[in-house]
Amino acid sequence: MIKNEVSLTGDRPTGALHYGHYVGSLKSRVALQNNDSITARYVMIADLQALTDNADNPQKITENILNVMCDYLAVGLSPDKTTFFLQSHIPALSELPMYYSNLVTVARLQRNPTVKAEMQSKSMTSSSVPVGFFTYPISQAADITCVGATVVPVGEDQLPMIEQTREIVHTFNRLYGKGKNILMEPVAILPEKALNGRLVGTDGKTKMSKSLNNCIYLKDTADIICSKVKGMFTDPNHLRINDPGNTENNPVFIYLRSFCTDEHFQMFCPVYQNLAEMEAHYRKGGLGDGTVKKFLTDVLIAEFEPIYTRRLQWEQHLNDVKDILYKGTNETIEVTSKTLEAVRSAIGIMKF
Ligand code: TRP
Repeated sequence: MIKNEVSLTGDRPTGALHYGHYVGSLKSRVALQNNDSITARYVMIADLQALTDNADNPQKITENILNVMCDYLAVGLSPDKTTFFLQSHIPALSELPMYYSNLVTVARLQRNPTVKAEMQSKSMTSSSVPVGFFTYPISQAADITCVGATVVPVGEDQLPMIEQTREIVHTFNRLYGKGKNILMEPVAILPEKALNGRLVGTDGKTKMSKSLNNCIYLKDTADIICSKVKGMFTDPNHLRINDPGNTENNPVFIYLRSFCTDEHFQMFCPVYQNLAEMEAHYRKGGLGDGTVKKFLTDVLIAEFEPIYTRRLQWEQHLNDVKDILYKGTNETIEVTSKTLEAVRSAIGIMKF
């Protein structure tokens, strides 16, 4: 990575954040705080984007803003290293999409696989989809470019948005740059364990999703973790302990591959040295789901207990949480108004 990178990511505040967010993005954001090639880091609460498919329930979004802020601070994002801001309070984020939307065709938006999948899961058709939702990738390009972000730490499902942003930047610079790059082309940073795929829901469905009720949340207590793991799906053909089992698409093992370390085995399950040994035993037969689930519960509690405790502390100091968000938002307004100025003058919007 070259020096002077700027990073930006964000989340829609439609609910508390869960382990899927943690594996998919939060963890790498925290790691990036120690990467000195990044000179500015932004984390945005995407309340405008959340409204694009929740126009009838804005209260849900406002209620969750501080919830998400507490999650951020609990996982270790720190206001000393990261600027937090609220999307709706940045004027440039309403104006930039106006300019960018002239550079994108309807056909291009229709091809975005993430938007397509979301439309399908929300039973939206190409004529019933709200215009704001259909065009949110354009607004997301504004989110990324408004602070000059060069790196975007996200889960794989966000790759189409980054791709679309790059195209918008490319077209913008070609049309208006007069040989200069007014806007920066960002690259995605994917989570380390991306090869394991993203974290599935506790029911084994592709994704953790609040509406599917298959999430474990950062704010879940040890008791709740325990009962959610007990209810997790495993290999449906592993009926008796002695039956050979499948570990590949088995949610319990998918979680272990994401979270457990060899030290966890020493602490909680010393009959195995590492996950490979445990998986081999399960595949051969003779290892029960209950034992594996007990181990997973111990691992999750060890990993998430400190996060949970910090979250409780922030919850008791919500005024401090609000102040962090206000301060970051004000700083971002300053930075983004410079981008807006550069964009307007590149296009040649008349000045009075
Ligand atoms: N689309 C992202 C999500 O659904 C949230 C988001 C909005 C975002 N703007 C962004 C992510 C800019 C990265 C960069 O989670």
